[in-house]
Amino acid sequence: MKQKPISYLLSLTVVVMLVTTAGMSYGIDKGESAKKDIYTPRPKPQPHINGPLVYGCRPGHPFLYRIPCQGNRPITFLVEGLPPELKCNPSTGIITGKVPEKGEYDVLILARNSKGTNIRKLKIVADDQLALTPPMGWNHWYAHYDRITDKMVREAADLMIKSGMADVGYQYINIDDCWMNAPKNNDSLRVGPLRDEQGNILPNHHFPDMKGLTDYIHSKGLKAGIYTSPGTLTCGGFAGAYQHEEQDARQFAIWGFDFLKYDWCSYEKIAGTDKSLEAYQKPYRQMGNILKSLDRDIVFNLCQYGMGDVWKWGGEVGGQSWRTSGDLGFELDRIFDVALRNSEFRQYSKPGEWNDPDYIQIGWIGNASKQGIPELTPMPAETQYAYMSLWSLMAAPLIYSGDMSKLDEFTLNVLCNQEVIEVNQDPLGESGLVIKIDTERFLMIKKLEDGSKAVGLFNRGKNTAEVAVDWTMLQLSGKQSVRDLWHQKELGIFEKKFSAQVPAQGVVMVKFSKR
Ligand code: GLA
Repeated sequence: MKQKPISYLLSLTVVVMLVTTAGMSYGIDKGESAKKDIYTPRPKPQPHINGPLVYGCRPGHPFLYRIPCQGNRPITFLVEGLPPELKCNPSTGIITGKVPEKGEYDVLILARNSKGTNIRKLKIVADDQLALTPPMGWNHWYAHYDRITDKMVREAADLMIKSGMADVGYQYINIDDCWMNAPKNNDSLRVGPLRDEQGNILPNHHFPDMKGLTDYIHSKGLKAGIYTSPGTLTCGGFAGAYQHEEQDARQFAIWGFDFLKYDWCSYEKIAGTDKSLEAYQKPYRQMGNILKSLDRDIVFNLCQYGMGDVWKWGGEVGGQSWRTSGDLGFELDRIFDVALRNSEFRQYSKPGEWNDPDYIQIGWIGNASKQGIPELTPMPAETQYAYMSLWSLMAAPLIYSGDMSKLDEFTLNVLCNQEVIEVNQDPLGESGLVIKIDTERFLMIKKLEDGSKAVGLFNRGKNTAEVAVDWTMLQLSGKQSVRDLWHQKELGIFEKKFSAQVPAQGVVMVKFSKR
């Protein structure tokens, strides 16, 4: 079949975006960037089960998994082949119980509503590994900074369900810094004793009931994340875990948390001038061992900005993911550079061990330099698609960090394309290979478990440009069917090469499957 230009890149719907000055500047025409094209088709009324095909958990620990499924509710769920320790609630699709003994359990999920039925396989792997696919969820930092409260976290959980994000696989509701007390802070409700007489960490007045909070999150089938530092104080100046590491980790487990971000911060003072690999590893190895000894699955996210080539040892010390660089909030106008740098460590990406280039910051986010009140991102629509494509092709954790209460149709359509997310969640866990075509154009190629390849055709230039890919670059041969993942549309059968018109600072993301 003859190759044709991708004319459907033209908008299906256009909404006008407010251009704010949140500290970012883009080299393309603001008039153009003010238009927002909706690429992702709306979910269909019939059920469509999403989520990972493989799920890791540790034997004997509490089990919680909400089946991500789009389609009109009510939906009735049935899971065939579940071990007796696990039960699925047919009306919520939430599977609970205790992780069975070591083994692989192949189950079949069925979802039915008045419009149709859908089935999907899931392999539950009860063993030592967690996060067999990149964690997905929300983190409060870039929206709420030190303004975060219990109420906002509960609201984020409500909205994760209501917005449909949970139906495509977003799962974790993660509290970042500032939930504890600080020795000093502008908000007197965040100032108080750091610990009680037994040395137990004390949440501040904005978090009156941590167990109640995680119970609330869990009641929706979602999971809860928390944050601390190995230093005496966190980056925001709140109580850290230094010399209380085990006590705090046990407390987090008792409270019911499922995810821990461990942020280096003031540990710098403790490490002092020691820049050895052992010094970098020490606090993370310690916490990694503690977490493994708990009777709860807690995903461990290392945050130390890439020091000591953390990608080489983050997994070995017990981490499921590690930040590869500093705070992306300060580099949002350099999204392509950040991604390309992260992708240099692609060989270290594998199931249960993920390079983390930081959060997805689109929609309403607060300027990182000012820890500002959320404003609508000025990032051009095309770049937001490129951002989400890069994170998906790099198998990066997909953690949204924006104001959930202000999610708009456009932002949700960038966050919730299930075909793009499926690339991120592919069980092979490969991070895409970059092929640079010239200074402005590049490809990112991700091998998928079924033998197909997901490819991002990227254009960093100021004008629309053709990006071509031939089969030698992809190590493919013969006829390939090509699907546009953002538009969820078959483009036809191609031989030898494929090319597309890629918008300025944007992407065309396709999947090549053998005919
Ligand atoms: C560091 C981290 C951020 C965030 C803040 C909180 O800067 O890199 O992701 O957690 O601390 O203070």
